[in-house]
Amino acid sequence: MTAEKINLRSDVVTLPTAAMLEAIKTAPMGDDNRQEDPTTNELETLAAHMLGKEAALLVMSGTMGNLIGMLCQTQPGQEVILEQGAHIYTSEQGGAARIGGLMVTRVPSRRGFPAPADVEAAIRPLDNVHTPHTGLICLENTHNRAGGTVMSAEETKAIADVAHRHNLPVHLDGARIFNAAVALKVKAAELVKDVDTVTFCLSKGLSCPAGALLCGRRDAMARARRIRKLLGGTLRQAGVIAAPGIVALKTMVDRLEQDHRTARRLAEGLARVSPLRVDLESVQTNIVFADTSGLPYDAIELSKRLTKHNVEVLIGDLHRIRMVTHRHITAEHVDYAIESFKKVVAGS
Ligand SMILES: Cc1ncc(COP(=O)(O)O)c(C=O)c1O
Repeated sequence: MTAEKINLRSDVVTLPTAAMLEAIKTAPMGDDNRQEDPTTNELETLAAHMLGKEAALLVMSGTMGNLIGMLCQTQPGQEVILEQGAHIYTSEQGGAARIGGLMVTRVPSRRGFPAPADVEAAIRPLDNVHTPHTGLICLENTHNRAGGTVMSAEETKAIADVAHRHNLPVHLDGARIFNAAVALKVKAAELVKDVDTVTFCLSKGLSCPAGALLCGRRDAMARARRIRKLLGGTLRQAGVIAAPGIVALKTMVDRLEQDHRTARRLAEGLARVSPLRVDLESVQTNIVFADTSGLPYDAIELSKRLTKHNVEVLIGDLHRIRMVTHRHITAEHVDYAIESFKKVVAGS
């Protein structure tokens, strides 16, 4: 057994690099409440440029970025259209309803991406006195619960075209948009060119200790800045967060390819460990789900047994586990994890 913990629960476990810690020490700082933190200003300019948007706003988390993205483009009482398994729906405490006074409705999807016709069918008529008005459409790329699947620029455009035809904005939860960009070998800006706002995370595969960016038009970001303040999300010397963010955007994007390779190795290895089942087609970036329903016990028990081998996985559902590869996971770790699965499944 390895003494080292192989933490496959999430890419949020990545630790800041030495270059990030050094950048924090030397970053010029000021009061970001007054937009006087030069490092934060630099990060926001860089993020806006990389995403092809007019402006960007540093927020503390992906959840905060999604919430502000929704609030800055809607009015209370409106309805937001989400994909069935959207992170905004499953894992953000219903902030849209609780804080934004928004209803949500969900549409089905294939591998996380709804059909444009289903999105259009979910848009409420404007002339019906009974229904709320639709205010916003949200998408997710890569799609977490669908297995880190990627949505192409064309697929995104097809849905954005529907939205814009109905004068509705689109917010993209792009927590892992750079994984999608690397997998599709396109610039992130290309993938988000048709959405109005996008959130991406610094704290996942990009290895920063914290932070996310919300990007969009200048007027939307000005409203977003006010909402961030309302939510208590405005920092002072935010350069502490922004400095590693700049390092991440400049140096950590291309290496995501390695995480995709280790995920594929893991997926292919686990697909051979009967009775586990892995949908290899859905393994497109750094996330791997395995169906454990063939085992005589549930995913919670499987996870406990794996922990004894120092392999940590996330419980997705009663019979589904999630594994995410990241900077601290090597091919050797993956091979060790596969061997551990074999032993656990064989009952040892
Ligand atoms: C797709 C997606 N969106 C949003 C988030 C939220 O990010 P945070 O944990 O920074 O709030 C996550 C986190 O895992 C995610 O996977």
